[in-house]
Amino acid sequence: MEVEKKPRKPETGHFLSSISSLPSPPFSSSSSMTILLVLFFHVFVSCPVSVVAAGVASFTPKDNILIDCGANSKPDVPDGRAFKTDQEASGYLKTKNDVQVSVSAIVSSPIYLNAKVFPEEATYSFTLKRPGYHWVRLHFFAMKDKQYDLQQATFSVSANRYALLHNFKINNDSVPVLKEYLLNMNDPTLTLKFEPMKNSFAFINAIEVVSVPDSLLTDEGTSLYPVNKFSGLTKHGYQVVYRVNMGGPLITSNNDTLGRTWIPDVDYLEEKNSAKEASTSVNSIIYTTVTPSIAPATVYSTLTEMSDISTAANVSWKFNVDKSFDYLLRLHFCDIVSKSINELYFNVYVNGKMAISGLDLSALAGYRLAVPYYKDIVVNSSLFSDGLKVQIGPTNQDSGKSNAILNGLEVMKMSNSAGSLDGEFGAEYSGESGVSHNGTVVVIGIAMALGASLGLFAMIYKWKKRPQGWQKSHSFSSWLLPLQVDHSVLSKGSGSQKSNLCTGLGRNFTLAELQEATKNFNSSVIIGVGGFGNVYLGTIDEGTQVAVKRGNPQSEQGVTEFHTEIQMLSKLRHRHLVSLIGYCNENSEMILVYEYMSNGPFRDHLYGKNLPPLSWKQRLQICIGAARGLHYLHTGTAQGIIHRDVKTTNILLDDAFVAKVADFGLSKDTPMGQTHVSTAVKGSFGYLDPEYFRSQQLTEKSDVYSFGVVLLESLCARPAINPQLPREQVNLADWAMQWKRKDLLEKVIDPHLVDSINQESMKKFVEAAEKCLAESGVDRPSMGDVLWNLEYALQLQEAFTEGKMDDTKSSDASAASQLSIVVASATPINPIDNNHPVSNPEDNKGLAEVHAIGDHSETAMFAQFQSLNGR
Ligand SMILES: *[C@@H]1O[C@H](CO)[C@@H](O)[C@H](O)[C@H]1NC(C)=O
Ligand SMILES: *[C@@H]1O[C@H](CO)[C@@H](O)[C@H](O)[C@H]1NC(C)=O
Ligand SMILES: *[C@@H]1O[C@H](CO)[C@@H](O)[C@H](O)[C@H]1NC(C)=O
Ligand SMILES: *[C@@H]1O[C@H](CO)[C@@H](O)[C@H](O)[C@H]1NC(C)=O
Ligand SMILES: *[C@@H]1O[C@H](CO)[C@@H](O)[C@H](O)[C@H]1NC(C)=O
Ligand SMILES: *[C@@H]1O[C@H](CO)[C@@H](O)[C@H](O)[C@H]1NC(C)=O
Ligand SMILES: *[C@@H]1O[C@H](CO)[C@@H](O)[C@H](O)[C@H]1NC(C)=O
Repeated sequence: MEVEKKPRKPETGHFLSSISSLPSPPFSSSSSMTILLVLFFHVFVSCPVSVVAAGVASFTPKDNILIDCGANSKPDVPDGRAFKTDQEASGYLKTKNDVQVSVSAIVSSPIYLNAKVFPEEATYSFTLKRPGYHWVRLHFFAMKDKQYDLQQATFSVSANRYALLHNFKINNDSVPVLKEYLLNMNDPTLTLKFEPMKNSFAFINAIEVVSVPDSLLTDEGTSLYPVNKFSGLTKHGYQVVYRVNMGGPLITSNNDTLGRTWIPDVDYLEEKNSAKEASTSVNSIIYTTVTPSIAPATVYSTLTEMSDISTAANVSWKFNVDKSFDYLLRLHFCDIVSKSINELYFNVYVNGKMAISGLDLSALAGYRLAVPYYKDIVVNSSLFSDGLKVQIGPTNQDSGKSNAILNGLEVMKMSNSAGSLDGEFGAEYSGESGVSHNGTVVVIGIAMALGASLGLFAMIYKWKKRPQGWQKSHSFSSWLLPLQVDHSVLSKGSGSQKSNLCTGLGRNFTLAELQEATKNFNSSVIIGVGGFGNVYLGTIDEGTQVAVKRGNPQSEQGVTEFHTEIQMLSKLRHRHLVSLIGYCNENSEMILVYEYMSNGPFRDHLYGKNLPPLSWKQRLQICIGAARGLHYLHTGTAQGIIHRDVKTTNILLDDAFVAKVADFGLSKDTPMGQTHVSTAVKGSFGYLDPEYFRSQQLTEKSDVYSFGVVLLESLCARPAINPQLPREQVNLADWAMQWKRKDLLEKVIDPHLVDSINQESMKKFVEAAEKCLAESGVDRPSMGDVLWNLEYALQLQEAFTEGKMDDTKSSDASAASQLSIVVASATPINPIDNNHPVSNPEDNKGLAEVHAIGDHSETAMFAQFQSLNGR
């Protein structure tokens, strides 16, 4: 939206004429681009440069904040950009303590002469003029000052909710380091936080925060394996790790409309003699849909192609990447070598997998030559066993004239589910105001509200996706149980004949049986799609419907986990847990067969799918069922199992709307004698226990917290996190509890419930939810206690409903139900407060009072209510 085309101020000078005069950098680590960029960056800043040929559109960024940290005078940067001095930038900075350091050494650019050292946490807060993507460039030069040896600095840097650098340290005092990020900002303030590690300090030489045109990165790309549409690109933050100009020279930030640096590809080419370069004049590039913002004509006017069309060997490039991250590859193409249209068809492979089959540039470019085209491909970290390999090669069309080209390549690390670009953990971000909050989850919720990209937790991502979107995770196990049912392909069936299913380890199906059950895994019976394979609706034993999950045979990493998981899952049997029926491991297949839950996830019946609304009683029954399932997981096995991903999409409903908990994929056994498991934070955003998030110590009470969110979701019929809402409403737990405190919760409950819900039932229910959401795990009830309260809420509701119905018939029954309600409201039954386990309800004082009123003194409260209800 903001592509103002103003010509840049022309500058004069000259630029290195040939790439060969540059030092040939050693590449060994995955961060080589950083160093490379730096080498080139300092080359460019140290040489006067002449700028951009006429006709290349320029972009004037709305936000263009450049700071030379620690500098007393404006640096004389050859490209003429106006960096602010330390003094001028002091308004942005907040810290208790900072030190300016400087060196007199020869450095590549004056911006590296000074640095700012932070012995304590420091933040730079920038008010942005526009939302959307921004470059955040951080310049570091680990020089040695009299007082501080910057090579000793170890620190972390975050930008709002993105962790950019984690325990970062530079072991080189001779080259500057540039870290370049592309961050989607919807928060009006960008807060760069520098956090020194214990007994260390942080430093920074220069900061750039520069907006880019919205068109630079759209939401959609293609996933690699399987090749599929991928949406949600704008929900990620990126770190640019390689930006390569195939077959061409170095392009410095001056020759690029968005200040990017492009490096030559020679150092990454594998078989150099399989490739050759070609180029044309920049003026012959015809921009149509692709604009110079995407890449300058200098990128599109050079390429690397197959050296010998007759031998038809692939051209390959190899890059080091951090295997724990997903990457976005942007491949730039422009056919400047064909003599006529329709000559060029070729394949593109990434890590040996077909990424683009039979790429037909002339068709894509409107049957013209020299028209740029680019393609965004998301490569999942699971495919990086041996770095990143990009290949172009002929199609199998043996025409003898096949060729293949590539003009440019950008390799960008994608922020992971925790919002991190370095390490496992996201940043603790407290939103615009910078005040500290009660609970990280809430806090991040606010950040998300502001729409900073959401990569954080898969959940969010899923909302925007097709209904059969899957829980995304790196481990095989996570796809073991979640069954997401697409109602459009549902066919109602028996689903309950399970007579000849085996128990124990489950049934060992033959592949043939499952092929028959799923019409040979015909795509027409797919009910879910995930990274590790598809879920099919199958029919076995002449009528029993089952969900058949077929692991992708290529994902070898899963085999061990597959077996462990079968063992674990087959031990768990409970009416409120989705059961594993069997498996098949013939022909190295990894197939799991589950009971089919024909009514799909609870969530779909609450909102988003336009299914008929559930009554309050049904919701209570579902919550009770799920609570029983979780209670069983926590207490029903010797070790105790923590679910770790309790949410409404993991509570599935069968044909009778009986709730069953699914997806123990993330589950962790609690080791005997221990009350917690220490583990990397996993789970779904909006449901995540803030205490677990902070401490990484997982207890059953983390599930209890998540279940509290589920309860509120059932009552309010809205997602745990809804980034589209005004900020204070984004996080359901936070928002609902605000209304609860004002005693106005009825204002925010599902409108479908307003007329039918019993106030006392709701009150009890909300009390339970509130206890579940207690800040500290020890203050939360056990699942048993929650269950108890929910049962109570159900009894209250039933008594109420009966009373209403009876009202019209007999005043006696009405009196009875009135009585029950009075009892309920007057009696301080709160097992959560008293921490009474469900197994022991008779010690409860409140219960005793109920007994006193009722007739059947030997029965427990629930029976009591039933008798009041006249059943
Ligand atoms: C950068 O721009 C200058 C001025 O137009 C030009 O002379 C130089 O060749 C350009 N560099 C590259 C790599 O295209
Ligand atoms: C620093 O990096 C440069 C360029 O990569 C390299 O030439 C030099 O040897 C490194 N110095 C140290 C001390 O590692
Ligand atoms: C090119 O590479 C792909 C993937 O690595 C491979 O399948 C294909 O056979 C190669 N083609 C040629 C001609 O070597
Ligand atoms: C936590 O919330 C309470 C009440 O909402 C507030 O009084 C308190 O200051 C908050 N604590 C922090 C650390 O924000
Ligand atoms: C990569 O695959 C894992 C496991 O299937 C999934 O959780 C993750 O979301 C995927 N990443 C992307 C960017 O699709
Ligand atoms: C299941 O059957 C397959 C052959 O159909 C066999 O290879 C496999 O060992 C069996 N698994 C078990 C646990 O018996
Ligand atoms: C899938 O089933 C449909 C009809 O049930 C059939 O037309 C189609 O050929 C099948 N596809 C495959 C790949 O078997």
